[in-house]
Amino acid sequence: MTEAPGLLSILVRPGHPDFLDLPWDVELAAWPGATDRSIELQRGLSRHEVQFVSYGGACVYAVKELPEGLAEREYGALLEIQARSLPSVEAVGHALAARPDGVRVSLLLTRYLEASHPYRVLFQNPGLERYQERLLDAMAGLLVRLHLAGVYWGDCSLSNVLFRRDAGQLGAYLVDAETSELRETLTDGQRRQDLMIMEDNVGGDLLDISMVTKLPDALRPEDFGANIRRRYESLWAEVNREVVVGVDERWRIHERVRALNALGFSIQEIKLVATGDRDKLVMRTVVTDRDYHRHRLHDLTGLVAQEAQAELMLNEIEELKARLSHKGRRDIPTSAAAFRWLTDSWEPAQRRLGPRVKTEADASELYCQVLEHKWFLSEEARTDVGLEAALDGYLARFPSRKGKKGKGPGGNG
Ligand SMILES: Nc1ncnc2c1ncn2[C@@H]1O[C@H](COP(=O)(O)OP(=O)(O)O)[C@@H](O)[C@H]1O
Ligand SMILES: [Mg+2]
Repeated sequence: MTEAPGLLSILVRPGHPDFLDLPWDVELAAWPGATDRSIELQRGLSRHEVQFVSYGGACVYAVKELPEGLAEREYGALLEIQARSLPSVEAVGHALAARPDGVRVSLLLTRYLEASHPYRVLFQNPGLERYQERLLDAMAGLLVRLHLAGVYWGDCSLSNVLFRRDAGQLGAYLVDAETSELRETLTDGQRRQDLMIMEDNVGGDLLDISMVTKLPDALRPEDFGANIRRRYESLWAEVNREVVVGVDERWRIHERVRALNALGFSIQEIKLVATGDRDKLVMRTVVTDRDYHRHRLHDLTGLVAQEAQAELMLNEIEELKARLSHKGRRDIPTSAAAFRWLTDSWEPAQRRLGPRVKTEADASELYCQVLEHKWFLSEEARTDVGLEAALDGYLARFPSRKGKKGKGPGGNG
């Protein structure tokens, strides 16, 4: 059927090579001597054989050999994890191969996560003490994200995570989804179970590494997993905290959104629920992960913006949606709120900013600066000053100069 010896079937997502030139009839461990595509890269400990192959430039892939049937399952789990916008390696495909001795194996193809490091490499670097805090936070943050999205991991460990330095932060990415289960939401029991497994595994990981490297004295292996758990628990509580706001305290909704943004979480949805008290609302937020906003904003409004700008604008749309829903006593679809936002906020603002906007990029940047200014004024006044007042204030404070773009400072100090 295929021209590749040993290859029984292969499925590859669009945009990748067909992989037909790989030595499928050779066991994976022997690929380095069997194909020029094989390259050596750092990797963590694993149960299964993993090799890397290069198709030039940034096109590097990881191949993992598993018993028949398992690659397909893990591929499916990774796709679903990706669909939920969670940080993980990217599923590319899976294959079924037969070895000369007749044994059938399945192989999982993922895209090599650029610039990532297995924990062993981080732990063997002299700078570990500096990283330790961030590493603990990154692990806790990853688990919170997965759990919020309904992913039970079943095998969280340092070995099953890749770490990447992202804009001064340390990001953690799920690499091994073999045991994961995807649900709508997780029960507290499932979360507890996952944390227990994490603590066990992390203890084992540290024992492993302590055999080959002297760990810094300040790093207490026996406490490491428990430390991640504590961070997980406070992050979980913070993210799920309900906040009571007065009906005229819209700026406080925004304050909460910004606090969550600062923790690295983005807001997908805000729900305002009336309390028994007529003047109070309970705010609940649904958080999501980075990178989600640009696409979402574009889907809803057709606007093209940077991720951070899109996040601000979507926050506004969600705030508007929550307000309209509360006022009309029924759920307003986000698309309807987005339309209202375009006609009531975005377009009037663009008309007033008009001459300063030279490119499409200016439009969202300036709009976001006006938003920043609005929040600054609102927090100062402890009431929502509204867009008109913010535009007045912004245009007066940052008059446009001839020949220069009317750029205000990023913040509002
Ligand atoms: N897409 C990838 N990018 C970078 N490294 C990878 C990738 N896939 C696997 N690895 C490396 O291979 C190691 C083992 O992969 P893993 O999926 O955990 O295998 P196992 O199921 O055998 O535990 C990981 O710790 C990681 O270092
Ligand atoms: Mg693993």
